Amino acid sequence: MSDSNILIKQIMVGPMQNFAYFIGDKKSNQIAVVDPAWDINLICQEAEKSDLKITAILLTHGHYDHADGVCDLLERYDVPVYISQQEMPIYMPNCKNLKKIKDHEKVKIGNIDIECILTPGHTPGCLCFYVPGHLITGDTLFVHGCGRCDLPGGDAKKMHHSLYNIIGKLPEETIIYPGHFYGPSETATLKSQKETNPYLQSKDLEHFLSKRMGL
Ligand SMILES: [Fe+2]
Repeated sequence: MSDSNILIKQIMVGPMQNFAYFIGDKKSNQIAVVDPAWDINLICQEAEKSDLKITAILLTHGHYDHADGVCDLLERYDVPVYISQQEMPIYMPNCKNLKKIKDHEKVKIGNIDIECILTPGHTPGCLCFYVPGHLITGDTLFVHGCGRCDLPGGDAKKMHHSLYNIIGKLPEETIIYPGHFYGPSETATLKSQKETNPYLQSKDLEHFLSKRMGL
């Protein structure tokens, strides 16, 4: 069941329709910034105008369009930066305060526990961030799409497993919050995606691979 104290805010940044997020706790006003990139001034202004206290940075993965603002944000807020220990060295940000985390590890922001779920496929270290009722999906799952698997570290078989056996097992009322605005809406329920997302309609792995990779 969703906790009414959970705060989630979506912020569109940059030329690639990236979404950064705040996720945290309405009671304490403490938040983590997910995927700080492109426009750190905007992200900081959004936090300051609502009197939110940035206590951590969470990275869904290390691609530059999700992480190129980490160093800038760290100059303003001296907070830990959480990224999967599975992420490829070439995608690790070169910054201070880096904390490498394991699958299912939880990060506490105020009174909210955020579960970091490893969902490889787009990169080996892709994480989704889960609190009951809400899932920030980065470049793993988009509204009506999923992340590409042809970049270094990409693996379409792992993507299939992540989509069908990890994300697909979460409660269907879960709202997904993607890493880019590529679909017809900014968010969607997992239930709606199971019904309409073309990458969640595959009858088996081979069908998914041919759709994702054109094999
Ligand atoms: Fe990416």
